[in-house]
Amino acid sequence: LEQPPLSTEILTLTRHVLSEQIRLGAAATGDLTLLINAIEFTSKFIASNVRKARLINLVGLAGDTNVQGEEQKKLDVLSNDIMVNSLRASRKTAVLISEELEEAIIIEDEYKGKYCVVFDPLDGSSNIDAGVNVGTIFGIYQIRPGSQGTIADVLRPGSEMVAAGYTMYGSSANLVLSTGHGVNGYTLDPSLGEFVLTHPDIKIPPRGKIYSFNEGNSLHFHPPTVNYLNSIKFPPSGKSPYSARYIGSMVADVHRTLLYGGIFGYPVDKKSKSGKLRLLYEAFPMAFLTEQAGGIATTGTKRILDIVPKTIHERSGVYLGSKDDVLDVIKFYEAEA
Ligand code: AHG
Ligand code: MN
Ligand code: MN
Ligand code: MN
Repeated sequence: LEQPPLSTEILTLTRHVLSEQIRLGAAATGDLTLLINAIEFTSKFIASNVRKARLINLVGLAGDTNVQGEEQKKLDVLSNDIMVNSLRASRKTAVLISEELEEAIIIEDEYKGKYCVVFDPLDGSSNIDAGVNVGTIFGIYQIRPGSQGTIADVLRPGSEMVAAGYTMYGSSANLVLSTGHGVNGYTLDPSLGEFVLTHPDIKIPPRGKIYSFNEGNSLHFHPPTVNYLNSIKFPPSGKSPYSARYIGSMVADVHRTLLYGGIFGYPVDKKSKSGKLRLLYEAFPMAFLTEQAGGIATTGTKRILDIVPKTIHERSGVYLGSKDDVLDVIKFYEAEA
């Protein structure tokens, strides 16, 4: 069999981000590129630990509880430390917000830069010990003009983020990123140790066939959620019902939704009155990517990226995915209003 010639034109993440910044005339300093480079490094580091977790005794609990009242896993704590250290050392950050830290980290002057990073170091921790996909989610704000970096710089609507993304640690590590001009996906080539552009300009299909909810919470769901789910499970005769896929790692469920289309939902319900997912480092980055890929992200009644957070660990209901599917949910909320 004839082999295609070996390509020497590999578009790595750093090269791609840099060329995009230059193309957009935004690369005056290259600071954002360097920051993304630091995040890319944390993804490689965390990916390698996720892969070895069973071998080096990284499975199981760390023994502490985080501010959300969740038991921290060893990999939650390790991934958080990896991110804090690398982001501080990048000298590009001023404020760091992590799911695993009750308070914001304000970077000392010596290391201070102009960006704020909000992150979920390890998303899907309940899946770690079973070897199921987990990930890291991040969002980036630039400090406001004149600010030295305070939490006011991150208590801003998600639409003001300058970039957002996630890395999914699965059969391969996939980094998906938007700097506000579309969405691109990169896959870690382990032999090169580089993320390589594999999914340029990701667009969510306008309608999908998959729904992704934790239906175990059905008892608590509000009527618009129940009515919407019934509409896709019991469609008018002649139409096929939707397929269910729910991994329980937001990163993995959103990744599939971006690529295949359909809808992911973790709504506010009678028990979780504010929802479960955290605005700054779960809902906002994923809503940012969804919109950049041509989809919609809503609470059911409000665009997620328009919410102004009052506290750093605030939660929100979330529906996101294919435009037509999410518009269907919104109709059930309008009918209820
Ligand atoms: P984390 O592991 O970072 O705490 O996030 C867990 C989140 C998210 O990944 C997922 O979508 C959701 O919790 C799953 O919740 P349920 O187990 O309630 O379905
Ligand atoms: Mn958690
Ligand atoms: Mn999470
Ligand atoms: Mn987490």
